[in-house]
Amino acid sequence: MNLTSHPTWAALRQLAQAAAPTTLREQFAADAGRFDRFSVRHDGLLLDYSKQRVTTEIMAGLHALWAAADVPTQIERMRAGDTINQTEGRAVLHIALRHAGFDPIKVGGVDVMPDVRGVLEKMQWFCDEIHQQRWRGATGEPIRRIVNIGIGGSDLGPKMAAQALAAHQVPGLRVLFVSNLDGAHLATTLAECNPAETLFVIASKTFTTQETMQNAASARAWLVAALGEAAVARHFVAVSTNLDAVAKFGIDPANAFEFWDWVGGRFSLWSAIGLPLALAIGFDNFKRFLAGGRAMDAHFFKAPVEQNLPATLALLELWNADFLGAETRALLPYSQSLELLPRYLQQLEMESNGKRVGRDGLAVTCATAPVVWGEAGTNGQHAFYQLIHQGGRLIPCEFIGVIEPDFTLPGHHEKLLAHCFAQSEALMRGKTLAEAQAETTAELAPYKVFPGNQPSTTLLLPHLDPYTLGQLIALYEHKVFTLGALWNLNSFDQWGVEYGKQLASRLLPIIEGKSATTGLDSSTAGLIAACRKE
Ligand code: F6P
Repeated sequence: MNLTSHPTWAALRQLAQAAAPTTLREQFAADAGRFDRFSVRHDGLLLDYSKQRVTTEIMAGLHALWAAADVPTQIERMRAGDTINQTEGRAVLHIALRHAGFDPIKVGGVDVMPDVRGVLEKMQWFCDEIHQQRWRGATGEPIRRIVNIGIGGSDLGPKMAAQALAAHQVPGLRVLFVSNLDGAHLATTLAECNPAETLFVIASKTFTTQETMQNAASARAWLVAALGEAAVARHFVAVSTNLDAVAKFGIDPANAFEFWDWVGGRFSLWSAIGLPLALAIGFDNFKRFLAGGRAMDAHFFKAPVEQNLPATLALLELWNADFLGAETRALLPYSQSLELLPRYLQQLEMESNGKRVGRDGLAVTCATAPVVWGEAGTNGQHAFYQLIHQGGRLIPCEFIGVIEPDFTLPGHHEKLLAHCFAQSEALMRGKTLAEAQAETTAELAPYKVFPGNQPSTTLLLPHLDPYTLGQLIALYEHKVFTLGALWNLNSFDQWGVEYGKQLASRLLPIIEGKSATTGLDSSTAGLIAACRKE
């Protein structure tokens, strides 16, 4: 249904206007219970959204939108294996990948769980083989480097998670990631590797993605040049839904880890796409990661909307985007280990909900996914925070803090937390002209005024470990699902990335000089002419 024509939508518009003159600073001054009212705790996580521009009435209206969109029924359709990705004719069941126990989860009447368990067992076996140094390279050397070759969902998840869990890294093994078609990525990575001790994981859902196939072919050539053709079997494994293409590439199907078309690329970290993560942190830790995701699933499915963490994040995003007009959201993890989270969430959120046509094929009549961007704190403070504080734009911020550090160096962590909380306080409070005048000269005071009233949320994790990372990623997955349900979008297709790929295939022979630039616009033709060697 189109929520914008629901009476609650109009009521929320009025509430937005009525609430606008009262600043966050005034709201905190008037209400000592604001934090208690607008924060949720669950399973060690604390979500403080008291610095968002909401009131009790606004939250009630947003909860009414959740009911109006009948999100619980949409959740049930996902869980039942319905074809909710209707433009690709697929079910959406990444939740099955972290499901435990023997209850069936069915797609087209068939229980997918035996296959899920089978691949997990194979991953566990393989991790043990590598870690116990039973699986060795062709010359008998143990494997000390894993190079994952993939892109998008076949890269961002395991890369982000392996860095996030660096404190849990299995000793003696380095896991590297190559994604970019630019040969510089593979070349500089291979420069750190010795062929005899390197294993390549070729990760591609389709096994047709040009970037991955080119990098895989170049990696294969590098290995064969050093160790010969027969070495490929000990140095290449694949992760894919397309086992025929894996075999055609020359990787033994026995060295392939399967997943299925009901796993979307950007939701695939829990599948065999997580193999490099499992190799990096060990399979027991990978199981803890799955358990964290599973715990968040149970919370999302059962908790009332008022206490529901993914629903709360989704409704606040909708509020900021559709009622306050925010076009972006800054994601600011105060954790170096979570440095790659903004990039990971860019794909998860923007590839899922960066759409303007609804499930009914009609243009949606409200704003959808904002631009997600960000950087680890405190680094971002010395780059773009100036604009957030004084640039005059509405930029909702999402801070993520971790109570216990994952690397304990005396003197660091308390300062890090102080900066994290100080930023959200400064964004909320701002500084008036009178306050600026009290601390500086009349001449400088105008430059030191901060408008404040910049909304933010702070999510606190007790610590960063495999379980909490699983909770965190599943939290954002369900937030994305909820927003898709509210905006009436299919969050699981990605037609928007196809067109550029088609045009690139058309331009390649022209750049190679095999065909003429005839028919191209003058800009594209001019750029190609500048690159052609003849
Ligand atoms: O960016 C488009 C996309 O299809 C993503 O959804 C996917 O994660 C990525 O390409 C990689 O695709 P594959 O895993 O099939 O190589």
